[in-house]
Amino acid sequence: MTSGEGPFTSLADVDDELRDQLRGIARGLAMAAGELIVTERPDRLGVAATKSSDTDVVTIMDQRSEAFLHDRIAELRPNDGVLGEEGAAKEGTSGLTWIVDPIDGTVNYLYSHPFYAVSVAVVVGDVTTEDGWETVAAAVSAPVLGETYSAAVGAGASVESRDRVRELQIVEPASLDLALIGTGFGYASKKRAAQAEVVASLLPKVRDIRRGGSAALDLCFVAAGRLDGYYESGINPWDRAAGQLIAAEAGAIVSGGSTPKPNKELTVAAAGNIHDALCACVVTKPR
Ligand code: IPD
Ligand code: CA
Repeated sequence: MTSGEGPFTSLADVDDELRDQLRGIARGLAMAAGELIVTERPDRLGVAATKSSDTDVVTIMDQRSEAFLHDRIAELRPNDGVLGEEGAAKEGTSGLTWIVDPIDGTVNYLYSHPFYAVSVAVVVGDVTTEDGWETVAAAVSAPVLGETYSAAVGAGASVESRDRVRELQIVEPASLDLALIGTGFGYASKKRAAQAEVVASLLPKVRDIRRGGSAALDLCFVAAGRLDGYYESGINPWDRAAGQLIAAEAGAIVSGGSTPKPNKELTVAAAGNIHDALCACVVTKPR
């Protein structure tokens, strides 16, 4: 066991006290940034920049939320690293890195559609590799829904809403054909065409499909039983680092489909009894 300053190289190095403290920090950060993006949203919110395509947008509030998270983390945990969707990058010395998505569901945010969230995760390991890190603690705050999800590894997951805290434990659906499945799509047209083929073949085999527009919240909805499963290809560490722990701590199996850990190729989160059947429908490239 090491002190609160590290160095940490694996989950085993993080004691329960620190793990719970980190969960509290993640919760506070996600809630504060969630409040910021709602209360300080300009009346006429425009697109500040685009990324992989003209529809992959960044607003001034994505940038402000990320700057806020970056600065607060530097104050609270000066030795930890930071990796953010909009470019925040700081190498730490502790072995812990905060992976943040300042607004997950930016297109929803642009349209004032309420399904968006701030995602904050603290991970241990090498964030320059796809699967060389594991989430220690995390929170996802959806300010318009009034919900904040959080989890710490081995300590369960919960959601708080209007001062009420509920521990999360998923309930298995009867079968895949009675399951409600969430998914999402990338921004590049070629990628979407491939994703459309997968979803078209899955749709006749399930109760229905939902496309919420925030991968972080989709994973939390699996934890909360609002979806029986979720899959998506092409998502990044900031989209999933928090939600994947929250889903797993609520009892979901979270994988990369054909690999134990989620990765850029595929993320699957589902109740144990339908996980493999869902993977069989959505894995396109066995690794
Ligand atoms: C996106 C959302 C969306 C998912 C996309 C992500 P962003 O993140 O999570 O649900 O389908 O793959 O890129 O751009 O809103 O932060
Ligand atoms: Ca995102």
